[in-house]
Amino acid sequence: MAGDRSREATRRLFFALWPNEASQAAFAHSVHKAAKTSGGRPVPADNLHVTLAFLGSVPERQLSQLQSIAGQVAQTFPVEWVPLRLRFERFEHWKKVQVLCALAEDVLTEAVGALAERLKTRLLAAGFTPDWRSSRPVTFSSAQRFRAHVTVARKVQHAARLTAMEPVTWSFTDFVLVDSKTLPQGSVYTVLERFTLGHPGESR
Ligand code: 2AM
Repeated sequence: MAGDRSREATRRLFFALWPNEASQAAFAHSVHKAAKTSGGRPVPADNLHVTLAFLGSVPERQLSQLQSIAGQVAQTFPVEWVPLRLRFERFEHWKKVQVLCALAEDVLTEAVGALAERLKTRLLAAGFTPDWRSSRPVTFSSAQRFRAHVTVARKVQHAARLTAMEPVTWSFTDFVLVDSKTLPQGSVYTVLERFTLGHPGESR
């Protein structure tokens, strides 16, 4: 900020699985009615994603360290678990954080959970403080199991009778680092880098 040189530049960052436009559109179509009738603010189709690790505010100078951690996690990820596949088929209302979200089953094994765990472990070891449990107590369940979800509406105060969701399956061969800006009109997300999962010729 001009006139405040002591303040270091920071970015609000998170790691996520980011579907392509067609997958986002199919998902938006499936959740349209539930999001619209939730009483909250539906998330625009091009913002739909699965958060793997939320970092919050990170100094700019640590960006390259984050990229290198993510690159290593991606490269050492078992190729036999790629593509990751998530099948979404039900809604939950998370009262504390006032969101309506779609919950996913990991189609393959627990590959997506394993990716989130690996990122979390490496980030914590490097001194980052991903905010897993304070304001988002349900990202990891009480048993510390990662719960893949997509937030479909925010500021949802009351749980309406939840409709069934027309199932949607998303597939991923990479994950991304995202910059998040909160503007009056809503969140603006920018994908900064993609990390391809699994290394050709390597299994574990
Ligand atoms: P949400 O979709 O469950 O709301 C950018 O804000 C992304 O990071 C969103 O997907 C949001 O998850 C997630 N996020 C924001 N604050 C968080 C926190 N304190 N802990 C975990 N995830 C958070």
